[in-house]
Amino acid sequence: MPETLSLQGGRALVTGGASGIGAATAQKLSALGAQVVLADIDGTAAAEAVATGVAKGFVTGNVADTGDADRMVQDARDAMGGLDMVFNAAGIGDDLMPVHLQDPDRWQHVVDVNLKGTYLICRAAGAIMLENRTGSIVNVSSIVGLGAFPGRSAYGVAKAGVIHLTKTLACEWGSSGVRVNCIAPGYTKTPLVRDLLDRGVFDPGLIERRTPLGRFAESEEMANAAAFLLSDWASYVTGTVLPVDGGWAAYGAAGDVDKSIPTKA
Ligand SMILES: NC(=O)c1ccc[n+]([C@@H]2O[C@H](COP(=O)([O-])OP(=O)(O)OC[C@H]3O[C@@H](n4cnc5c(N)ncnc54)[C@H](O)[C@@H]3O)[C@@H](O)[C@H]2O)c1
Repeated sequence: MPETLSLQGGRALVTGGASGIGAATAQKLSALGAQVVLADIDGTAAAEAVATGVAKGFVTGNVADTGDADRMVQDARDAMGGLDMVFNAAGIGDDLMPVHLQDPDRWQHVVDVNLKGTYLICRAAGAIMLENRTGSIVNVSSIVGLGAFPGRSAYGVAKAGVIHLTKTLACEWGSSGVRVNCIAPGYTKTPLVRDLLDRGVFDPGLIERRTPLGRFAESEEMANAAAFLLSDWASYVTGTVLPVDGGWAAYGAAGDVDKSIPTKA
């Protein structure tokens, strides 16, 4: 085992790699020595991301479409000469609607992209990895998959489903040498969240006061956790959900985090 974390020689597919957490993770995996191909529905943004050097190439398509998912995984494998790692970051937010007011088709769309998309990419990548009897997949859940957020039923159901999918795949594929884990990010400064902040959908101060570490996350902090789980440093870790949330999910008290706790007895 190398003393420093290295992905030298590894070949990674990063879905949703054109933006935010996916782009930061692609950059991190490249910096650690992996070959990286992005998969994204937005070909223009993916091309721009590749031009900045975060990956060697990209494939375009919709992760929630079976044909697209199979094609993207196979094309990425062919471009790199193999597939050892997958980071499943493609996702969309939801409408912030209570269940009884939300359009069922929109609900289904959010579940399809976030959950079915993750399932389809895992399914296609797993077929390759099982044959090779090695591989590591990291899915992206959310703190919204760990606890209920009013108005976010579609997203929450999808992200809770990603956790269960991860555990099921870890149990099905562990004996074949394929590890499957997921991270559950807290509020992270990405275009998705900046858009919600710009539209006044939530109050940043409220979130910072409810978070034990007292701030939003940077995308790179998600990339660091993903790189660890994808690497051989996590060789005995599978089926886990790692909250990368500044303590959000651990916090159970009423109101804001108490900052008046003395640091000395
Ligand atoms: N930003 C946060 O605070 C936060 C918190 C928890 C979880 N997450 C999750 O992290 C992941 C990345 O989020 P982000 O904030 O970086 O978002 P982002 O919008 O910056 O990036 C998402 C990327 O996914 C791509 N994408 C969307 N739908 C797709 C589809 N059907 N097929 C292929 N690609 C598609 C987009 O084009 C985009 O490049 C998502 O799964 C999101 O739910 C984000």
